[in-house]
Amino acid sequence: MTDHQIVFGDSQDMSELEDESVHMAVTSPPYVTTKMEEGQDFEYYNHLDLCENVFEELYRALIPDGKFVLNVGDIYTKYLHEDDKLHKAPLAIDTFQRARDAGFRQFDQIIWDKGFTRNFGGPLLGTYPYPPSMFFNNYYEYVFVLRKPGKRPSKTREEREASQLDKATWKKYMQQWWRIESETEKFEGHHAVFPLEIPKRAIELYSYKDETVIDPFGGSCTTALAAARTGRNSVCYEIDDELEPIIKTRLDPDQTTLGSVGMEANYEFVHRDDATPGMSQMTLDGDEGESPDESEATQL
Ligand SMILES: C[S@@+](CC[C@H](N)C(=O)[O-])C[C@H]1O[C@@H](n2cnc3c(N)ncnc32)[C@H](O)[C@@H]1O
Repeated sequence: MTDHQIVFGDSQDMSELEDESVHMAVTSPPYVTTKMEEGQDFEYYNHLDLCENVFEELYRALIPDGKFVLNVGDIYTKYLHEDDKLHKAPLAIDTFQRARDAGFRQFDQIIWDKGFTRNFGGPLLGTYPYPPSMFFNNYYEYVFVLRKPGKRPSKTREEREASQLDKATWKKYMQQWWRIESETEKFEGHHAVFPLEIPKRAIELYSYKDETVIDPFGGSCTTALAAARTGRNSVCYEIDDELEPIIKTRLDPDQTTLGSVGMEANYEFVHRDDATPGMSQMTLDGDEGESPDESEATQL
């Protein structure tokens, strides 16, 4: 039996968690909107500042040697620099750098090959078929693996044995390009879920059974689902308490989209005053199904 807490509130404050009380983190931060104008809620540098505040809280709550698995991709925008044309903004590496600023160190790096489905519904053409501004398709994201420095409390032989990976799984996970079809286009109720396989692999690689995993940007709480299926406890923060029914469906042992959870789990929902209804809808990277800028980037 595992325990899972879903806290509706802003993860810049995770004071419910004692220092060095959770064993690993896995998350995918909200997208910054493509129209990044000064003063907006998700203006590029405000967005990075928010991420850094959350990462500092994570750093405090993680045990020494605790791993932090950060999934983030770059975005196309023309709003990062004044009077600029559409280009790829280095959101992934900028977010990664903020995690390093919070004290984490790089442990490893994985490329998530998302298959051929794509958030905007098709490739950007740019000036195709002519030079000089043709765009690559955004079919991959990064999965950075960071680590809090320090020495992890030791485990018994039995605890290690209970969490060991079989050789075939280990070989699959150790291929640094993870080909996992994106699920977000098929998922109803949240526009930016990661596939179960991402947190599942991360949790199996970087934590032991019965330990606690945290996701500070919970969304539909795929991380809690992955933790339940792998025998770990979890804590997920999500600012938008209107997502509660979506999360309950995602975690329902009888739900059919991903098959049954197959493990008994307790779920506790905590509502804080700083939860903001509808907030998850403000994190859209452009309007769903549309290209970031129709005039400069056409879709197939
Ligand atoms: C990319 S989604 C995460 C999706 C998740 N990985 C899943 O599979 O469902 C990011 C989520 O972070 C939430 N969020 C944004 N700012 C937040 C904050 N300050 N505290 C907690 N959650 C926040 C958004 O509402 C959104 O649901």
